[in-house]
Amino acid sequence: MTTVIDGKKAATSVIEAVKVAAAGLEAETGVKTGLAVVIVGDDPASHTYVGAKGRMAKECGFNSIQHTLSAETSQGELARLVQSLNEDASIHGILVQLPLPKHLNSEPIIQSIRPEKDVDGLHVVNAGKLATGDLETGLISCTPAGAMLLVRSIHGEDLSGLNAVVIGRSNLFGKPMAQLLLNANATVTTAHSRTKDLASVAKGADILVAAVGRPEMVKADWVKPGATVIDVGVNRIDAPERGEGKSRLVGDVAYAEASDVAAAITPVPGGVGPMTIAMLMANTVIAAHRAAGRKPPKF
Ligand code: GUN
Repeated sequence: MTTVIDGKKAATSVIEAVKVAAAGLEAETGVKTGLAVVIVGDDPASHTYVGAKGRMAKECGFNSIQHTLSAETSQGELARLVQSLNEDASIHGILVQLPLPKHLNSEPIIQSIRPEKDVDGLHVVNAGKLATGDLETGLISCTPAGAMLLVRSIHGEDLSGLNAVVIGRSNLFGKPMAQLLLNANATVTTAHSRTKDLASVAKGADILVAAVGRPEMVKADWVKPGATVIDVGVNRIDAPERGEGKSRLVGDVAYAEASDVAAAITPVPGGVGPMTIAMLMANTVIAAHRAAGRKPPKF
């Protein structure tokens, strides 16, 4: 029987632990965990994500602040907002929703966030800590941290002797995911659009992680029998079978056929997706504990 990895359930248990940690910190120190989310422009998908992050932060008992800036915001205005959030002691986590409108340069903005408030784990200090094997003092990008928690739910903490293949090499996901797997002793290959014979590389994986952004690209014959498959893709495709103009979400893995071959697989929706917000809350409560000089919880 194939195990369908339940990301909703795993996310709920992270959120429960976050609530306990946030309430404990507030009871002991009077510090209320604070998260500021910054969104620029009117991209509807980004507004949906940011709304969900704000609601979850409130549910966790955080002080949840949203800064909504117009699509015409200048680089300087955005930089000044980040600076003021850096200096605001009531804010422990800062997230600037990506992508930014085209006229803005995201990299200097991300790098101007104080590393200890960089709950996206995108600052070079946090990326560097992960790359050098320091998983204790930095902040780890939320989606890979969540995906790794799902991998651990199947394989435990030590991935010695297992081959892991990550398809995708972004700073937000592929690179940190590969680092996390390597830190857990897996033998890791980072594959991408320029990889020769991607299907046969994927088929060598005991743990196959797909983050390519192409609907159902990973087919059953890319999957090693008995593998664990983690699908990070979220793609909206037309679904005329549901009625005219309807759509549905699919991952980067052809789920129906791949689930016959895999031993464990994440569905879309309900797999990695719910973990991202949960790990954002986890990072924020970790940051708040550190700012208060308290030992942070582990997730
Ligand atoms: N846009 C899509 N995913 C993310 C994320 O994890 N962090 C940020 N900042 N923007 C995103």
